[in-house]
Amino acid sequence: MISSKLSKMLYGGDYNPEQWDKSVWPEDMRMIRLAGMDIATVNVFSWAMLQPNDETYDFSTLDEIMDMLHANGIYACLATSTGAHPAWMARKYPEILRTDFEGRKRKFGGRHNSCPNSLVYRTYSTKLADKIAERYKNHPALLLWHISNEYGGECYCDNCAAAFRGWLRNKYGTLDKLNEQWNTKFWGHTFYDWEEIVPPNMLSEQWSSRHTCFQGISLDYTRFNSDSMLDCYKLEYAELKKHTPDIPVTTNLMGAYKPLDYFKWAKHMDIVSWDNYPSADTPFSYTAMMHDLMRGLKDGQPFLLMEQTPSQQNWQPYNSLKRPGVMSLWSYQAVAHGADSVMFFQLRRSVGACEKYHGALIEHVGHEHTRVFRECAQLGGELVQLGDKLLDSRVSAKVGIIFDWDNWWAIEYSSGPTIALKYTDEVHNYYDALHQQNIAVDMVGLDADFSQYDVLIAPVLYMVKPGVAERLEQFTANGGTFITTFFSGIVNENDIVTLGGYPGELRKLLGIWVEEIDALFPNQTNRIIMKDAAGSLAGEYECSLLCDLLHSEGAEVFAEYGEDFYQGMPALTRNRFGQGDAWYVASSPEPSFLQGLLGQICADRGIPPIIPPKAGIETTRRTKDGQSYVFVLNHNADAQTIELGSVTGTELLTESKAEGQIVIAGRGVLIIEEK
Ligand code: GLA
Ligand code: ZN
Repeated sequence: MISSKLSKMLYGGDYNPEQWDKSVWPEDMRMIRLAGMDIATVNVFSWAMLQPNDETYDFSTLDEIMDMLHANGIYACLATSTGAHPAWMARKYPEILRTDFEGRKRKFGGRHNSCPNSLVYRTYSTKLADKIAERYKNHPALLLWHISNEYGGECYCDNCAAAFRGWLRNKYGTLDKLNEQWNTKFWGHTFYDWEEIVPPNMLSEQWSSRHTCFQGISLDYTRFNSDSMLDCYKLEYAELKKHTPDIPVTTNLMGAYKPLDYFKWAKHMDIVSWDNYPSADTPFSYTAMMHDLMRGLKDGQPFLLMEQTPSQQNWQPYNSLKRPGVMSLWSYQAVAHGADSVMFFQLRRSVGACEKYHGALIEHVGHEHTRVFRECAQLGGELVQLGDKLLDSRVSAKVGIIFDWDNWWAIEYSSGPTIALKYTDEVHNYYDALHQQNIAVDMVGLDADFSQYDVLIAPVLYMVKPGVAERLEQFTANGGTFITTFFSGIVNENDIVTLGGYPGELRKLLGIWVEEIDALFPNQTNRIIMKDAAGSLAGEYECSLLCDLLHSEGAEVFAEYGEDFYQGMPALTRNRFGQGDAWYVASSPEPSFLQGLLGQICADRGIPPIIPPKAGIETTRRTKDGQSYVFVLNHNADAQTIELGSVTGTELLTESKAEGQIVIAGRGVLIIEEK
């Protein structure tokens, strides 16, 4: 729960009045209120204004902004401003500047530009957070803290190198252990002194951001970099909590953002928030998966949609307008998946620099008579109408899909078997197959309580960290259905191969032995031929990317390969294990195969679709205090007639009865309060 003060979903967004002449502020307030908004994220990039030099802090403008928000009944999501350091600081203390992947020491410029291991940066950012919290701790507008902004990137400077050695000592204890776990006898890389270890970048072990001579060091550096930034966040967090233990703290995440292990981060966040910037051609099920991932970071607690654009971006190659209805549809998609806010970047479109063509509530024309404003105001009215009904409600799912940053990094640092293997794509294939069938999914980390699920899917579980195999065995033995894929069970947490046959620690659970792994060229496919027992899945399907050549060691073979020298070898197996079963999908199949397989497994386990599936229609269910709400979202541009199946109740936006067959407008949304 964000705050017990709230009586509706938060609605608003990033607001940068300090970049404007004060004469426009009253107009801003009028229009923000006219749009039905009640929250503004302020002070995101104001460090240079707040601290003009080493000794001076000047909060006069921020005071005015906070007071103005309060006077207008608008809450502040108050940022700490540490996402971009002032120019004077960079000049005076060059150590705060990052060194990039190519090994170049950066000069002042851009943002998200501070070295996370610079003591100067840590000291000044912590001090600023302390001063802001001290000053505004009792301010009536303060609802939420927003630390820094979109933490990200990497640094490879000497400070980071030194801190990395400390991090490694802590992890491995001895150089012997490190040498063993990085397999440094390969190419004669044995280290005799910690000081010999340098960050892996283009000057050392890597020849691209994806290719490294040593997976061990690259993997550890990625973890270290994520931890370093998290440490910066935690330092500021402690300052804020010192003054305001009850005000929730967040930082805006970015969905499946590769450099940071958000499952680790979320443990230190009071509420998850994230910035959703799909492109017009992003599959809507991918956006859905991102929302579910953000919800999964904190065990299903509601999250905040911190940013999205009301109309267009500026930083994509082609920044198309959101078509009429799309902004509203995508806002409700976030809510449908567990968001308790709808917020934008930004409220007033900037006049200069690189975001002047980024959409905003208030466009350059400066008044409210625009399509974008009208659509925002309409949504604002609807969120008022919905009141607190959906606030703090939960999405519940019987299917969990495992998402793991360590696996993602390790899979993509691997040299071989194929450059085409992209972790998020494989995870999305499984997610999409369920999403198409209106079956709810939780995206979960490896720490999750698996026992809450009937079906647990781990696409490409390449790395098996300590204890994971046992927990998966336990889940399955207790009656769960476990599904995993090709290229799983290969390495330990440091990318050292588990010897004795793939899939290593998962071999017993899966009842198979993978002897070889074939990589297919981009246009090459094989076929998965279902055997007789396969019921509704009967037939043939294409597969591509990788093909595991495997032998059953007790697992039942459901399908075989149709081509090549491994024609007739198993392509889909199921192993009975205790009360449950464990499936192995040996290649990357076409979508209809996964829809069939997962649909059948869910049907067998008594997990029905929320409503009967139809192309372009998305459904979710949120529940609170025993009352459930079904969201139906029409991603098609034209109206559709849909079957509500067993769902009946009152549609909240139109206050009309919803049951049986119903027409949903193009890009329309139904929110049905179930009977
Ligand atoms: C990010 C940032 C914002 C803004 C938007 C533009 O999400 O957090 O400051 O730059 O992108 O899309
Ligand atoms: Zn650094």
